[in-house]
Amino acid sequence: MYRYRNMRAEDLPMVRNWRNAPQIKKYFFSQNKISTIEHEEWFYRNCNKPSHHLMVFEQDEMPLGFLQLICYQQEAKNYEWGFYIAPTYLGQGHGKTLVKKALEFAFITLEAEKVKGKVLEGNSISEKIHKVLGFKQEGYLRNECVINQQLKNIFYYGLLKSEWANHQ
Ligand SMILES: CC(C)(COP(=O)(O)OP(=O)(O)OC[C@H]1O[C@@H](n2cnc3c(N)ncnc32)[C@H](O)[C@@H]1OP(=O)(O)O)[C@@H](O)C(=O)NCCC(=O)NCCS
Repeated sequence: MYRYRNMRAEDLPMVRNWRNAPQIKKYFFSQNKISTIEHEEWFYRNCNKPSHHLMVFEQDEMPLGFLQLICYQQEAKNYEWGFYIAPTYLGQGHGKTLVKKALEFAFITLEAEKVKGKVLEGNSISEKIHKVLGFKQEGYLRNECVINQQLKNIFYYGLLKSEWANHQ
């Protein structure tokens, strides 16, 4: 059975390893390797904030991936998501379930009005996932970040609750 649970302190090394793996890191806007201290500071700064949901995605208690949902404006109830599958489980169909369950968690449990995501141009799997889920492209930011000394563009995607409900 697939489920989400809150990320715990004992997950820190595992999640940091996932995040620093080349197959995952290459899709992030910052390419620096996250240090243990930086990772711990990020976790303890955010883990108890009501606006931040740091979650581990599991199948039968086997950790498969990470999800964060962050609400920057409480009244608007819109959440920015970020997610990844553990490097050893990439490309095995778990990502599709992770995103489906993430949207259920956001729209049903958190009562979100909108979920939004930023995708680096060229991350074709993520672009495809957003389109298949019914997200609309809301923005295209040119030369928004630098990856390996090259300027890169970013897509902004958004999905409203009504669109998600009609898409089921
Ligand atoms: C995006 C991500 C979560 C998808 O998870 P996954 O388990 O690898 O993907 P799945 O196996 O569920 O496949 C999802 C779709 O992508 C396709 N896909 C998966 N791996 C692929 C690959 N290497 N090349 C091309 N397509 C691929 C699958 O065929 C599937 O498409 P389909 O529905 O048409 O069959 C995962 O690749 C990941 O963690 N990527 C790095 C971090 C990232 O980009 N996060 C999103 C930031 S916005």
